[in-house]
Amino acid sequence: MAEETPDLRGLPKSDAYATLESHVHAVLDGIADPIAGMATISSLLHHGFGHLWTGFYRVVEPGRVLRVGPYQGTLGCLDIPFGKGVCGTAAERGATVLVDDVRDFPGHIACDARAQSEIVVPVFDRQRRLIAVLDIDSDRRAAFDVEDQTALEYLVQWFARHD
Ligand code: SME
Repeated sequence: MAEETPDLRGLPKSDAYATLESHVHAVLDGIADPIAGMATISSLLHHGFGHLWTGFYRVVEPGRVLRVGPYQGTLGCLDIPFGKGVCGTAAERGATVLVDDVRDFPGHIACDARAQSEIVVPVFDRQRRLIAVLDIDSDRRAAFDVEDQTALEYLVQWFARHD
């Protein structure tokens, strides 16, 4: 059961994220490796919801540089400076950034021309140090809302509980 990737499309978001949470915890049972966590969460989110791009940018130079980590989708850019694009903005602020239309976000980094909306959620360790951001891109406008934000912020607490 845990090895299956559930299709979450068509479910109410609250059910979809509850199912996702239980799969993440079942698959990662006994594992406290952040890269395994990033890979598993990327895969379950990406295929479960049918996103365009789903993955993590890791903090490789605190306050300066994010570097691509485990992801699903077409090639992502490798390094993103803090403060640049949606990912760099979320990293600099240490807060989630929701973008309904990427064309309205100055400095958006377009790795895939099909991207229309996105959400970027900061990931913290147990000491509340920023270790990464979770970036999800959609080919639909305004695909993400505050319900996604709340669920994803809760989901990435896995990293604070497993370091
Ligand atoms: N959407 C990001 C860039 C990374 S890729 O799209 C994978 C941004 O503007 O931060």
